[in-house]
Amino acid sequence: MSPTSRGSPHQLILRFLLLVIFPLAALCADDDSVLRFVNPLIGSTNGGNVFAGATRPYGLAKAVADVDGQNTGGFSTDGSNVVGFSAVHDSGTGGNPSLGNFPLFPQLCPDDEVNNCNFRIGDRATPYVADSVVASPGYFAVELQSGIKTSMTTSEHAALFRFQFPSGNSSSQHPLVLLDLRDLWQSRQNATISVDAETARMKGNGTFLPSFGAGSYVMHYCVDFFGGDVYDNGVWVNNRGGTEPKDLYVTRGFNLFFLEAGGWARFAGLANNTLTARVGISFISAEQACRSAETEIPSPLSDFDRLVQEAEDAWEEKLSPISVNAGGVSDALLTNFWSGIYRTMISPQNYTGENPKWDSGIPYFDSYYCIWDSFRVQHPLLTIVDPKAQVQMVNSLLDIYEHEGWLPDCHMSLCNGWTQGGSNADVVLVDAYVKNLTGIDWELALKAIIQDAEVEPLEWAFHGRGGLQSWRNLDYIPYLDFDPVGFGTNSRSISRTLEYAYNDYCLATLAQGLGHADLYDKYVTRSTNWQNLWKAEQTSAIRGKDTGFTGFFQPKYQNGTWGFQDPIDCSALASFCSLTTNPSETFEASVWQYQFLVPQSMATLIELMGGEERFLDRLDFFHTSGLADISNEPVFSTVYLYHYAGRPGLSTKRLHTYIPASFNASNGGLPGNDDSGSMGAFVVFGMLGLFPISGQDLYLISAPFFEGINVTNPVTGKTAQIKTVGFDAAYENVFIQNVTVNGKPWTKSWIGHAFFTEGWTMEVVLGSEESSWGTKLEDRPPSWGDATKVAGLL
Ligand SMILES: *[C@@H]1O[C@H](CO)[C@@H](O)[C@H](O)[C@H]1NC(C)=O
Ligand SMILES: *[C@@H]1O[C@H](CO)[C@@H](O)[C@H](O)[C@H]1NC(C)=O
Ligand SMILES: *[C@@H]1O[C@H](CO)[C@@H](O)[C@H](O)[C@H]1NC(C)=O
Ligand SMILES: *[C@@H]1O[C@H](CO)[C@@H](O)[C@H](O)[C@H]1NC(C)=O
Ligand SMILES: *[C@@H]1O[C@H](CO)[C@@H](O)[C@H](O)[C@H]1NC(C)=O
Ligand SMILES: *[C@@H]1O[C@H](CO)[C@@H](O)[C@H](O)[C@H]1NC(C)=O
Ligand SMILES: *[C@@H]1O[C@H](CO)[C@@H](O)[C@H](O)[C@H]1NC(C)=O
Ligand SMILES: *[C@@H]1O[C@H](CO)[C@@H](O)[C@H](O)[C@H]1NC(C)=O
Ligand SMILES: *[C@@H]1O[C@H](CO)[C@@H](O)[C@H](O)[C@H]1NC(C)=O
Ligand SMILES: *[C@@H]1O[C@H](CO)[C@@H](O)[C@H](O)[C@H]1NC(C)=O
Repeated sequence: MSPTSRGSPHQLILRFLLLVIFPLAALCADDDSVLRFVNPLIGSTNGGNVFAGATRPYGLAKAVADVDGQNTGGFSTDGSNVVGFSAVHDSGTGGNPSLGNFPLFPQLCPDDEVNNCNFRIGDRATPYVADSVVASPGYFAVELQSGIKTSMTTSEHAALFRFQFPSGNSSSQHPLVLLDLRDLWQSRQNATISVDAETARMKGNGTFLPSFGAGSYVMHYCVDFFGGDVYDNGVWVNNRGGTEPKDLYVTRGFNLFFLEAGGWARFAGLANNTLTARVGISFISAEQACRSAETEIPSPLSDFDRLVQEAEDAWEEKLSPISVNAGGVSDALLTNFWSGIYRTMISPQNYTGENPKWDSGIPYFDSYYCIWDSFRVQHPLLTIVDPKAQVQMVNSLLDIYEHEGWLPDCHMSLCNGWTQGGSNADVVLVDAYVKNLTGIDWELALKAIIQDAEVEPLEWAFHGRGGLQSWRNLDYIPYLDFDPVGFGTNSRSISRTLEYAYNDYCLATLAQGLGHADLYDKYVTRSTNWQNLWKAEQTSAIRGKDTGFTGFFQPKYQNGTWGFQDPIDCSALASFCSLTTNPSETFEASVWQYQFLVPQSMATLIELMGGEERFLDRLDFFHTSGLADISNEPVFSTVYLYHYAGRPGLSTKRLHTYIPASFNASNGGLPGNDDSGSMGAFVVFGMLGLFPISGQDLYLISAPFFEGINVTNPVTGKTAQIKTVGFDAAYENVFIQNVTVNGKPWTKSWIGHAFFTEGWTMEVVLGSEESSWGTKLEDRPPSWGDATKVAGLL
């Protein structure tokens, strides 16, 4: 067992019992579980913002301790204070903390006086005992410095919390638990609570704002307590509580002042000093929240271990398509790998039966947070390990298109999220298409993508695309576009041009596949629009010193005159740019970063950049100068672009400079926001030795991090095998010498998804020097268009 994946106490007890009863067999079975390599705390500090608590795969209920430090995902190992325990969260997101609604907080009131307890969040904040944190799939526990120990687990729509008060106090005192009518972001507009005098059941709802989107959402809750007698209860406002009234309605308050308020209850005669709280959550009604909690957790005092076991079984099942022959690599690398897969299945969240806006009778998912991040590697990974879920998600995106008019680029808490660049749900759909996922209405998908490409919504800030008039008439998104049709942040003209061009390429791919030749011609032509922002004579300097490279993307006005954005702006060497902070012509990354994002036509790009040698120099300079931002998703593919210049060995070499130096199994082991598991998926594909170019039937082959890996396709049941010859755990031999697939030489540096669906066997011969494998022109990854045609642009 690796030191980073401690077993939960009940697991340890279980192991102890099993050891006594069935000494060997049972222990071995348990030790075989890959769950020992899942550490939910990876990325719990240093900005990873992961959800570190208890959840089932894609579960709505996500229980964890919330802190007052890095609390975007609720908990952090940053040593800050615990302010509550709540049942809903997002994972890995940036910006505002997400969800964390209706937290509970346990305490003992000095002298047993209710008003000696701390109600307000700033007053009740309590440090946790650093080495008391236990996190494993479906389980989270932490001890507060007040001596109160908490442990929690979840079903699909409900969470179960156990609060164990220090012995000695609870006999003379009446432990109190409060419910706070807030969320982590303090976005509550109004909320209600009713406390049942007899049972202390707390029920109600609140209206909150989505953490990165438009509009508002209503969430309902239903909390029941078990394990003792109700002593007294009531509501609290500011720092005072009373036993009357039992109902409360709070608004935003004067001048948008945030009124702190909620309910409380005290208990007597706790068995084992332990109070159990069951929290049901629903987006439909408080009654539905109660019903889910009662159905899923009927016996709260005895269900805890069953729930943990079911969660573990569900996670084990989700990880079961993959098996690894580690070949002597460290447990830390294995933990990095398995935890990465685990984190891709925390969100999107399965809100089936919980959508108050419509019910199409098919599974409904939310928390696509955000597709700009997840289209690159998270969804491609789900396509391999959980294609059935990926099909449901694609259909759910189409369902959103049918009801909201456009596909979302980001969606959370039943609201539209802000669009960061292109209409990248298009890529998710087409990626599913080229990988032959079944059970999707492809003509509907085509319609949805054409809607993105042709019909500008009034609010393109949160779905669809903006500037479509210019896109059609000028073939680029102009700098300071005149666009009276719809509204969004009028920035990012370069990154939007690049992403729209790739979105159109994906549209062309789908149109061609469905036999619409006219549409294919139209959109494949538009997919070359990126070339219109290529300024051949543009140079780039860092602190006055020329980098030596000429030709960069630049903003262009509507009248065709060039604007200017320093190619290093928006990189770590200059300043950060987002939608609202320093909005620029590139989003969250520099022109240096975006110059590589032409996945449809890399050969053309390489030609524009002056040929292969200059392209390789540029890539190396990018990765070694501080311009590459490994903490954000646009960088991912650049690690592998050496393949397109016939040097696949350099991709693997580059990858090893980032894993584990920037992605590792420590609590701060992610370089940036995990973004729903995007960072995790990057690690997994890197270690697998196959990197997807989303939207194309294409994986770039690199040297795997393990001696052998099998992936069984959950739909076809066939097993793809990756085997190595000459593997060494110290990674001296990271250069591919030769590859065979099903025993035959495979000279191409890439392979298609049939590898997984058909269950092929790939044998990779490794060595310590770069070889000629994958270097020939005909062995490079596919690239659309005739590179020689760009001569006129130079
Ligand atoms: C709990 O009991 C101990 C002594 O048994 C006392 O020192 C401590 O103050 C009590 N805690 C509270 C919150 O009353
Ligand atoms: C709660 O706030 C929302 C958003 O401001 C508003 O639409 C709704 O009417 C309010 N509800 C009540 C009952 O005041
Ligand atoms: C919220 O709860 C209050 C009090 O029970 C109820 O009157 C109101 O209808 C609820 N709001 C929604 C949107 O269900
Ligand atoms: C209290 O603890 C004892 C011994 O640890 C255990 O047998 C019993 O089931 C516990 N009771 C409850 C209600 O948890
Ligand atoms: C989501 O939940 C629904 C309803 O329980 C279920 O039918 C569906 O299979 C779930 N999807 C996944 C991927 O678990
Ligand atoms: C094009 O428009 C820009 C911005 O309004 C202006 O600075 C530039 O002079 C114009 N160019 C021409 C040729 O009119
Ligand atoms: C682990 O990753 C983090 C985040 O990128 C990095 O800061 C840290 O230096 C890495 N640790 C090691 C030992 O490489
Ligand atoms: C992959 O499957 C083959 C055939 O069943 C087996 O021989 C091999 O050991 C497996 N490798 C791994 C890494 O599980
Ligand atoms: C690689 O394969 C070629 C033939 O495809 C063979 O000539 C060569 O010896 C192989 N090299 C290694 C290191 O296996
Ligand atoms: C998808 O199906 C088509 C048509 O049957 C086939 O040509 C293609 O190879 C398949 N692709 C994958 C990834 O299985």
